[in-house]
Amino acid sequence: MTSTHSPTGIERFIKPHLTIFTGYAPPKPATTEKGKTGAPVRPMIKLNANENPYGCSPRVLQALAACDSLNRYPDANQTELRHYLEEYTGVGAEHIVATCGGGEVIDLILELFVNPGDEVINCEPTFDYFRFKAQVCGNISKEVLRDKNFAISVNAVKAAISERTKLIIINTPNNPTGNTTPQKDILELVDTGLPVLVDEAYYEFCGETVAPLVSQYENLMVLRTFSKWAGLAGMRIGYGIFPSIIADYLLKIKAPFNTSAAALIAVRESVADRDYLMDKVKTMIAERERLFGELSQLKFIKPWPSKANYILCSVPSGSAGKIQQELEERGILIRIYYTQLLRDYIRTSLGKPEENDALIKALKEIGEEIVC
Ligand SMILES: Cc1ncc(COP(=O)(O)O)c(C=O)c1O
Repeated sequence: MTSTHSPTGIERFIKPHLTIFTGYAPPKPATTEKGKTGAPVRPMIKLNANENPYGCSPRVLQALAACDSLNRYPDANQTELRHYLEEYTGVGAEHIVATCGGGEVIDLILELFVNPGDEVINCEPTFDYFRFKAQVCGNISKEVLRDKNFAISVNAVKAAISERTKLIIINTPNNPTGNTTPQKDILELVDTGLPVLVDEAYYEFCGETVAPLVSQYENLMVLRTFSKWAGLAGMRIGYGIFPSIIADYLLKIKAPFNTSAAALIAVRESVADRDYLMDKVKTMIAERERLFGELSQLKFIKPWPSKANYILCSVPSGSAGKIQQELEERGILIRIYYTQLLRDYIRTSLGKPEENDALIKALKEIGEEIVC
C-alpha cells in the first residue's frame, strides 16, 4: 500500500497505513434495512451472514436468565471454560484458548507471529477478515489464487512463500466458496514448517477436521466458533486449538477478560445440549441439499456445492448487485461482494425451510425479469 494521501491535523498522528485503509464490508444488520431501503416493514429474511436461523439452545437462555453473577469478572485463565471446550472437542484443555468469537483467534495469531511488513498467505477468494486484519496490523496479505473449482494449489502456495512469510491461513470449508481442503494438502503445507492456521468455523456442517492432529505438530493451529452450529453469533465466543506451547503464549498475550461470564454459561449449556443443536445442524444440511437442487433449476445463476451453511452462486449475466437489490425489496438479505474476484457472485446462508422457499420464489420472479 503506497500512500498519496497527506494527512493534516490529528490524522498526522495516525499510523500511515491506516489513513489509506479501506476497511471491511460487514453484512448489513436486518434492523437498519427496514425503513432505509423502502422494503416493507416486516421482519427481513436474513441470509447474509451465515447465522443459525434456529437460534441457540433454549437451555442457554434459561441459564442466562437465572445467572446472578454478571457483576463479577470471568476467570482470565478460562479454566472452567476450557474444561467444557475439552469435553466438546476431545482435545486436552492445555491445547485450547477461548476467544471473543473465532475472529479473535486470527487477531491473536497475527499478534504472536507476524510483524508489520511480514506476509500472510491467503488463498483467495476467501473470508475477507483475513486480509482485513492483516492489513490493519500493517502486514501484507499475499493472495494466492484458488483454481477454477476453488481448490487450493499446494504448489502455488509453496511458490508464494518468501523469507517474509510468517503465516499461512486455510479456511475449510472455505467461506464463501463452500468447498473443503483435503487433509493431505493441509499437511503438505504444515510440512513447510511455517505456522499454519486452519479456520474450521463451519466444521460442524462438514465433519472434517485436523484438530486431533494438533498435538503432533508444532505449527498446526485450528480456529473454531460457537457462532454457527450453536447459534451464538451475537454472544461472540470462539476458540482455538493449538500446540500447547502456542496456547501458553496466547494465554499470556490475550486481553485478560476477552470472553464474558455470559459466554461461559452459553458454552456450558450448548455443550450439554449438543444433541439438540446437532439435530438442527442436520436439518440445515438437509436444507442445503434441497436448496442446492432448487437453485440448480434456475437459468440465471449457478450454485456451487457447499459443505457449510451457505451456498455461493455465480451470476454469469453479471448482475449480482441487481439480484441483491431485488431480493432486498422483497424483504430478503443476501451477500454480495465488492472484490474483483467475487464481483459476479451472490451468497445465501441457509434459512429455515420456509425462508429458503421464500428465497426461491423471489429468485424465480427476479429471473423472469432478468431473462425478459
Ligand atoms: C471463515 C470464518 N472464519 C471465522 C469467522 C468468525 O466468526 P466469529 O467471529 O463469529 O466466531 C467467520 C464468520 O463468518 C467465518 O466465516
